Amino acid sequence: MAFVEAGRKVFVANRNELAVGLGKKVEIEGRELALFMQEDGSVRILDNKCPHKGGPLSEGIVSGNYVYCPLHDWKICMKTGSAQGGDQGNVACFTVEVEGDDIYVFI
Ligand code: FES
Repeated sequence: MAFVEAGRKVFVANRNELAVGLGKKVEIEGRELALFMQEDGSVRILDNKCPHKGGPLSEGIVSGNYVYCPLHDWKICMKTGSAQGGDQGNVACFTVEVEGDDIYVFI
């Protein structure tokens, strides 16, 4: 698991910019992040870089807690950042805080 827990709290997006099932790419301090809103309203934030060959996870297909990379279909858990099945690798995922409609990431 590649969970980034420490860091500075930075505003990333407003909740109304996200839609369930669709990723959103955001650039923060030179780092490209992929934001996802879950069906329960929670928000997941990962590096926008597949652990396989760097595919843009924000453009992947979302299913439950997983996103499928648009390049070669690796299945990545949005809770842990881990590749699933026989695939090996992790993508950094970040601590998220939601205040009202404002979404913050600790980066
Ligand atoms: S780059 Fe994501 S599966 Fe290959």
